[in-house]
Formats: sequence, structure tokens, C-alpha cells
Amino acid sequence: MAGDRRNAGPQWSAAPFLGFCLAGGQALARYLLDRPALVAGRAVLDLRSGSGLVAIAAAMAGAGPVTAAEIDPFAIAAITANAALNGVEIALVADDLLDAPAPHPEVVTAGDVCYEAPMAERLIPWLRAQAAAGALVLLGDPGRAYLPKTGLVACATYPVSTSREIETGDVLETSVWRVLPG
Ligand SMILES: C[S@@+](CC[C@H](N)C(=O)[O-])C[C@H]1O[C@@H](n2cnc3c(N)ncnc32)[C@H](O)[C@@H]1O
Repeated sequence: MAGDRRNAGPQWSAAPFLGFCLAGGQALARYLLDRPALVAGRAVLDLRSGSGLVAIAAAMAGAGPVTAAEIDPFAIAAITANAALNGVEIALVADDLLDAPAPHPEVVTAGDVCYEAPMAERLIPWLRAQAAAGALVLLGDPGRAYLPKTGLVACATYPVSTSREIETGDVLETSVWRVLPG
């Protein structure tokens, strides 16, 4: 019984964290679906893909090939299931990619990746290098603590509905930013 399980071990939230697309990813997905010309026919790499929503939106907007990079096995399972449910093809790379030879995709996306310093400090210079190599680099972010203060161009802002189980409000003003070269 549920009551027995609650008493027997850790308390689990009802929020399916890795299946729940964070605000940054939701804004980025909306942005791509509304502007398919940005990605149609272009190679897209979605870093820290989570649920895969951004990669799926890119594929639905006509991008190809679309690659999702993610290291968490539950997220990888979610991306695989979500891509199949939405009838799109996503190539999965179960790797960080930041230490590998740079792949130079035409478009790089990253949803909600500035919530902790170690991640942002590694990722932002890598994203800037991709922009310097000619990629369109897009970041979705609701104002997380480690979002860079400079070197970004605001592209769009959305009120994104989210859950108080993981955020401080029901709606987060969330922007899509173009990352400029370093
Ligand atoms: C805050 S979630 C964002 C997920 C998604 N982009 C979104 O907007 O909902 C960050 C994701 O990064 C993944 N991640 C963390 N460190 C990583 C790494 N070194 N390489 C690849 N993925 C990583 C986590 O497993 C998690 O799914």
C-alpha cells in the first residue's frame, strides 16, 4: 500500500524531474517551432537534452540530423521514448561532448543549463567557441544564477508555466538568448 511505502523509505516527489522540461527548454522549443527557418535542413546539437523536448522541436521544425547529448540514463530513456512518441528521429550521444573534438554543428541549443556554477563555467566558453566557429547558438533561460551578464542577445521572452514542486512560481518569464562568440 502507498502508506506502507511512504513509511518504508525516502519520500518521492510526484514531479517526474527528468521527464519534466524545464522553463528554459520550453521557451527554446517554442522559439524553434515558431521559426522553423532557423533550423530547417540544418544539423542541430541539443546539449544537456533532459527530456529531449528541444531536440524534438528542432526535428519537428525540419532540422536534420538532430543530435541530443545527455549523460543521465533516465533522461536518455526519456529522450528515446519522447522521440518515438512524437515520430521524430534523434541521434543520441551519451557523452558530455565538451572534452571531445568539437563537432561544429550548424545550430547548438541548450535549455536551462545555467542553474549551477560548474556546469555554466564549462559550458558557456564551449558555446562561445561554437558561435565563433559559425554556429547559431541558442540558450533558453529563466534568469538562473549563472546566466552570463554579457555576450548574449535577447531573441524572445515567454511566460512559461511550470510547477511549484521544482520552481518558486507558477509562471517564469523565460528568454531565448543568442550566444555571441567569446
Ligand atoms: C536542468 S536539466 C535541463 C534539461 C533540458 N535541456 C530542459 O531544458 O529541460 C540539465 C540536464 O543536463 C544533464 N547533464 C548534466 N551534466 C551533464 C553532462 N556533463 N553532460 C551531458 N548532460 C549533462 C542532466 O542529466 C539534465 O538532464
